[in-house]
Amino acid sequence: MDCSQALANKLRTFMLSKSQITDLAECFRKSMLGQLDGSGSSLKMLPSFLDQPTGEERGRYIAVDFGGSKIRLLNVHLKGHREYEITKEQTFLLKDPGNKYNFTTESTTGSELFAFIVSQIADFIDDSSIYPLGHTFSFPTLQRSANDAILIKWTKEIKTSGMEGLNVTDVFKAALLARNYHQVIPKVIINDTTGTLLTAAYRDSNADIGSICGTGHNTCYCESNCAAYTKSQIINIESGNFNELPYTEYDNLLDMNSNTPGEQRLEKMVGGKYIGELFRIIVESFMKGKLLFNASQLDTFSKPYFISSQQVSIILEDFSPDLNGIKNWLTSMDIDSLLEDRLAIRLISSRTAMRAAQLVAATYIGILTHIDSGFLNQHIIAVDGSVYEHLTLFADTLRATLNCVLGNRARLVALKLTKDGSGIGAVIGAAMNT
Ligand code: BGC
Repeated sequence: MDCSQALANKLRTFMLSKSQITDLAECFRKSMLGQLDGSGSSLKMLPSFLDQPTGEERGRYIAVDFGGSKIRLLNVHLKGHREYEITKEQTFLLKDPGNKYNFTTESTTGSELFAFIVSQIADFIDDSSIYPLGHTFSFPTLQRSANDAILIKWTKEIKTSGMEGLNVTDVFKAALLARNYHQVIPKVIINDTTGTLLTAAYRDSNADIGSICGTGHNTCYCESNCAAYTKSQIINIESGNFNELPYTEYDNLLDMNSNTPGEQRLEKMVGGKYIGELFRIIVESFMKGKLLFNASQLDTFSKPYFISSQQVSIILEDFSPDLNGIKNWLTSMDIDSLLEDRLAIRLISSRTAMRAAQLVAATYIGILTHIDSGFLNQHIIAVDGSVYEHLTLFADTLRATLNCVLGNRARLVALKLTKDGSGIGAVIGAAMNT
């Protein structure tokens, strides 16, 4: 067997068949039910205490959108009639690129982190008005009401100490009081998937699923049929933690060497934080097996997390006959390549990106089947995040997978890029909870 054949064989497990995707969707649906009926599963199914908006919510609000090490502040004017306007926005980092501060590590506390966030709000307020605030907090939380959320666990890159198990809104309120910002009043705390769904549903009542395919991954949906809840409401699935998946040896390696082995297994196969790393692990393993390049150059691919999902996209965008873009990238790392090496690099990239989309599609099909088993209604899946927006092949494969598995029923399902939905949704949630 020649190298390219051996390589193609190893990558075969990355392409899921229609029946595998259908089985996975069914397994996901059962996991949703398992958690809802109390028997338990890897999905968290967390209540948000918010239902779909009417599109008539109004007012001026501040949003704090905390999804990772980048935080966004927004002033949003909800005008009713399904219209809104962002009147001011600003982004800041929890980690200074010049290393002057870093609020994401274990050596800082939650109080210090929120004191820093509150210190950035000054430009968004004055003394003469009251500012109702919506807070997007994109981590798994247990909510007791729409404005109370206990952090279950940090995910993604945040490790700030002393926050897990605490009521995030209390920590935020204490930081506001410490600065005498009595005029800023937190009204709601939501997950970013909920924000994305609220934003899309403010515009169109057919939106009933919200999803983030970015650094992290997660999906929420409108639950109207569950005995555990008296009222219909949005449920944050925390689907990134789904763990009944067709793992490859590379997925297991990535997980084993991560900070959180055994956790967020789906996220580790589809999240922007991990796509580049998965690609790197595959390349390194093929190099070790002498299937790629010259094994003496092994060190180059041994540094964890040095490849981003953007780099995977750049590889996939190289359509030149000799794959010169990929060649130049490899040369910049002192790696000499043959055309067949570069073809392999492209194949690894495309398999990684396409499998991610297939897995996410399977979860969407599971959710759609749960909320509308007869496929009688229109559904809009609101999606935001860098992977959906920018990872080459991802959005197209997602759509194609829905079409292939759902057949005729796929015409009822629209995927809608809902940019900035997480922050705007916090404002909509604040209006609903005021
Ligand atoms: C978090 C989710 C979040 C997702 C997307 C995951 O790591 O657990 O709560 O919705 O990232 O930001």
